[in-house]
Amino acid sequence: MTKNGKFITFEGIDGSGKSTQARLIQKFLRDNGYPSILTREPGGSTGAEDIRRLLVEGEPGRWSPETEILLFTAARRDHLERTILPALEAGKTVICDRFADSTRVYQGAARADLRDSVDQLHKLMIGREPDLTFIFDMDPEKSLTRGLARKSGEDRFEEFGLSFQQKLRAGFLALAQEFPERCLLVDGQDTPAGVHAQIRPPLMALLE
Ligand code: TYD
Repeated sequence: MTKNGKFITFEGIDGSGKSTQARLIQKFLRDNGYPSILTREPGGSTGAEDIRRLLVEGEPGRWSPETEILLFTAARRDHLERTILPALEAGKTVICDRFADSTRVYQGAARADLRDSVDQLHKLMIGREPDLTFIFDMDPEKSLTRGLARKSGEDRFEEFGLSFQQKLRAGFLALAQEFPERCLLVDGQDTPAGVHAQIRPPLMALLE
């Protein structure tokens, strides 16, 4: 019987460098013979990628925080069913760029005070936590410049501005304290090689 894989998430404010690091760590795992997949939220399955476009494009006020919770959770459920759980069951390490912690912080704390609704819906429809979560921390002034400079057309959340990013930062720091058994803070202002070196040892300790 194959041993179930581990579920690793990367979280943090917009432009904190987590997506680059998620790619680097998956390359490292691949090069070292660890079966793994790299996936992301919102998205990661065909249906969830369709929902992603509704969420990340358009005017900041396009959706209310309540509607956003429903859309992110719908996307997550599809992603979990079709991508994450099958990979874990096949013994693969799943590296996921954002997961439920983003909904807890973005919709549950920063956009609105809706953490109870987020938690109830999570319990009902998702019910799965990562084995390890890296929370990228950095100065929002720096990360926002990085994020908007990308001009990806997917900057609906960056458009909420600096005070929103500051709320997000506080929200992620509070989350790291709430779930100390699985969350590790990463200094996102370090060089890319330095951040990679922060992440590798705890990840390998979990996988070995
Ligand atoms: P992402 O593409 O990961 O953005 P970035 O590369 O800037 O980190 O995610 C898109 C946006 O969606 C991002 O601004 C965060 C937001 N988001 C939420 O508000 N709630 C959620 O549950 C998730 C998964 C993402």
